[in-house]
Amino acid sequence: MDLAVTLDDNSGVPLHRQLHEELRRSILSGRLPARSRIPSTRALALSLGVSRTTVTQCYEDLISEGYLQAAIGSGTFICQHLPEELLRAEPVRRSPKLNPPQKQPLRLSAYGNRAHNSARPERRRPDAKLSFGHWRPAFKQLPLRHWRRLVTRHSRSNGRAVFDYSEDSLGFEPLREAIAAYLSRSRAVQCEPGQVLICSGAQRAVDLITRVLIDPGDAVAMEDPGYLGARQVFMAQGADLSPVRVDESGIVVKELHKNSNSNIKLVYVSPSHQFPTGILLSLSRRLELLAWAAQQNAFIIEDDYDSEYRYGGRPVPALQGLDQNESVIYVGTFSKVLFPSLRLGYLVAPPRLVEILARAKWLVDRQSPLIEQYALTDFINEGHLERHIRRMRTLYDRRRNALVDAFSEYLPSRVSILGENAGMHLMARLRTDLGDQELIARAAERGVEIVTARPYYLRSKYQGEFIFGYSNLSEARIREGIRKLSQVLNLIDDF
Ligand SMILES: Cc1ncc(COP(=O)(O)O)c(C=O)c1O
Repeated sequence: MDLAVTLDDNSGVPLHRQLHEELRRSILSGRLPARSRIPSTRALALSLGVSRTTVTQCYEDLISEGYLQAAIGSGTFICQHLPEELLRAEPVRRSPKLNPPQKQPLRLSAYGNRAHNSARPERRRPDAKLSFGHWRPAFKQLPLRHWRRLVTRHSRSNGRAVFDYSEDSLGFEPLREAIAAYLSRSRAVQCEPGQVLICSGAQRAVDLITRVLIDPGDAVAMEDPGYLGARQVFMAQGADLSPVRVDESGIVVKELHKNSNSNIKLVYVSPSHQFPTGILLSLSRRLELLAWAAQQNAFIIEDDYDSEYRYGGRPVPALQGLDQNESVIYVGTFSKVLFPSLRLGYLVAPPRLVEILARAKWLVDRQSPLIEQYALTDFINEGHLERHIRRMRTLYDRRRNALVDAFSEYLPSRVSILGENAGMHLMARLRTDLGDQELIARAAERGVEIVTARPYYLRSKYQGEFIFGYSNLSEARIREGIRKLSQVLNLIDDF
């Protein structure tokens, strides 16, 4: 059999790969029929004018993939059944009689129904060119050169451990050590590496905690307004939610003492930068909250999601460091200090909860991806993480100032800013006669996306409060966005 094959010495693709592709195509198209014999490596090499090694390597690849088979003494043949056939499942013919209506009720579990009603994946406005609606890291400034080098280093590893199941569902031990050390120096968190559990973001941490502590009907308190991601987890679990007011000192702890709240098992707070108001929980409230939890035998989730970003003033130590009663479960994430798709976060459990949380983690997803955990360990230990945070702190500070300045330039006396000089977003009250949705729609007409704080409230129905994410917008874009917003407001209202 003669094989007409065209190879290109200048294509940059190795000759054996080119030959492999040509032969594979000929086999699949039937030009080389099943069970036919193909030329020997020597004959084909001669006729194509390539080395015999090139042909041998190509045949070996095709044999290992299941296109060719070698019969000792009689040559190499095209396989009767090709891998494409073996990998393709024929669709089952449905008899219309046997499978009639697709309108059968979907028999979801109670959890499934609650998840359906509470969780809604976030949608972006495709038309908004300039969005204040996301509090994402500055993507252009990500330290990708270091990150890629470390991921490549570990994905090239020949060690089996990086590709295998881990024996430890708490996470890669050196990463837990690095996180424990980082939290102790930067957040005054008191913990051993054995209390750190690595999981896919703060969201999974809240989910795991809720699974092991909360039954349907159990009371869970949270700040009002508060973080939707956590609220949706509590609702999906069937918790009885108690919204608790937030004032200028943070969550109003005395509301937790109300009679109707006497059964609260868990309270969710974001003390260092309350979401979404940005308010800092005062020291006296912190002590009050810890005393309440100890007396109530309740747990506190401390979500410290963007605490790294404080601009001016001393860093505020975590609530966890003040806890004497093993009440606080500390939650942190790399979504803000690195990037959200990494899906790596952690919780620091009080010793009495470590074992159960590790078991729950094993049950739901065994472990978090190891290559990323290895890379992150080096990233922290080689100092890249803290260097990046320092740079981003300066950058976000400038961006926040640009936003505040733009407010005073374009919307003087119309805006009051809530919360601390911290984080990746700020919440502002806008004085306007327009309803929130109307303002959002008119801003969108000018290509600017803003988001109302209203969905974050469980009880109150505030109008005119908006969240402005600034961390991923340049100073010029921030000014432009607020200028356009001011055009909407100044056209409408006569202040
Ligand atoms: C209050 C709060 N906690 C946590 C997170 C981060 O969650 P994750 O680590 O699941 O990305 C966010 C993200 O926006 C948040 O706003």
